[in-house]
Amino acid sequence: IPLDAFDLILFGGSGDLAMRKLLPALYFRHRDSAPATGANGWRIVSVGRENLSRDAYIAKVETHCRKYIAAGDFDETAWTAFARCLDYIPLDARQPGDYGRLATLLADNPARVRVFYLATTPGLFAAISDNLGATGLVTPDSRVVLEKPLGRDLASARQINEEVGATFREDQIYRIDHYLGKETVQNLIALRFGNTLFEPLWSRACVRDVQITLAETVGVEGRGEFYDGIGALRDMVQNHLLQLLCIVAMEPPASIDPDAMRDEKLKVLRSLRPMTPEDVATRTVRGQYRAGAIDGLPVASYLDEPGIPAGSRTETFVALKAELNNWRWAGVPFYLRTGKRMQERLAEIVVNFRDVPHALFPSLSGERAPNRLVIRLQPDEGLELHLMAKVPGDEMRLRPVALNLDFADTYHGRQWDAYERLLMDVIRGKLTLFMRRDELDAAWRWVEPILDGWEQDTVPPRPYTAGTWGPAASSALVGRDGLAWLQDS
Ligand code: BG6
Repeated sequence: IPLDAFDLILFGGSGDLAMRKLLPALYFRHRDSAPATGANGWRIVSVGRENLSRDAYIAKVETHCRKYIAAGDFDETAWTAFARCLDYIPLDARQPGDYGRLATLLADNPARVRVFYLATTPGLFAAISDNLGATGLVTPDSRVVLEKPLGRDLASARQINEEVGATFREDQIYRIDHYLGKETVQNLIALRFGNTLFEPLWSRACVRDVQITLAETVGVEGRGEFYDGIGALRDMVQNHLLQLLCIVAMEPPASIDPDAMRDEKLKVLRSLRPMTPEDVATRTVRGQYRAGAIDGLPVASYLDEPGIPAGSRTETFVALKAELNNWRWAGVPFYLRTGKRMQERLAEIVVNFRDVPHALFPSLSGERAPNRLVIRLQPDEGLELHLMAKVPGDEMRLRPVALNLDFADTYHGRQWDAYERLLMDVIRGKLTLFMRRDELDAAWRWVEPILDGWEQDTVPPRPYTAGTWGPAASSALVGRDGLAWLQDS
């Protein structure tokens, strides 16, 4: 679908997220859609505190794009065309006087879609919104994109929402969770609501447990100081893991309209069984990595990473057992876990179905496994359906087999990055994959007792060796229910 002309104003335009993700994503969309140039085309105005000329900024973006885009995908002609859309204005986001130049630049065509992307610390969201409003830069067709972390707790999240909400209407606010832009997450929606096959089985009647894992091999990647103030619960669970849980557990919406989808996700968040102090002690595990090895190479302990204060108790790993108080899912455990410096980079959703009520056939050397659906988000996107099937031969013996759908084999060509889709959705005004304010509140409300419980706990996070699947307590959490993480089974 061709895109109309738009102005994208990128706050934090020379920061890490912009360089690593946003600008490469825009390059690809520009390359593949070849939009008009000039007044009818795209305009990307980056703003930041660094005092750079337009040429120096473009040179910086080029260096990063060449680094983050695979050589075969970097096309010189496409790059030159894309670079023509880029501009840079040095601006101190807190200084109202600095916005004049931006206003002058954008004044030529106020009817264009205008997107303000705030890839800055959330501490600046209020000042930026105020200053944009006061300078008259917020047109009726403007949108604002808010990057996470949206607050540290319910109160600070509410404050950010109040402050941004003083300038932008709720339908102009795009709270981004890039996991919702991943191809396989979209496919999970398609799988659930575009097929009749799974829906009748998708409940406590047939599902024994659900496991969602977001494991990374990277550590804190030079952002130790920032990460240490956040930790894995706020960085990954409050947003990405809970959003994935919502997509797995939600009722079929009446349509894919933003509010139809978001109403259903909200119901899931509101039906999460609140964590009591005792639950926090028995149903959550937090860990912190120690020195170990990733892919055979030694890596340092979290406490020895640059920017981490001595004795830090910030968690780099979380495993927890969530339950939903509703008819569809009552009694079905949802195990969530995430960690840095884990054994593999792996993001997957595992739906374990109940075993057959009566085993009719002997299995090959005791190999019997209940049906399982694995939805893999990373590293190679795909779906696996594990079934029992007969081993060829005379006897009626069964063995587990898998039906595999590997997206790379089925759909050739480069897959879109999550940010490509989400940026295009913002420009087209499609809010479906963005979080509504009440969803954010509900997610924080559920997470807060865990934060409080950990805060009061005198026991530090459990150490785990880098390059493993986390502390042993994580396996024990699932083991207590007579189950196991897929990697342990
Ligand atoms: C971000 C977190 O939201 O997601 C990072 O802040 C994390 O700590 C990243 O590394 C993981 O995203 P992806 O898409 O690489 O799995």
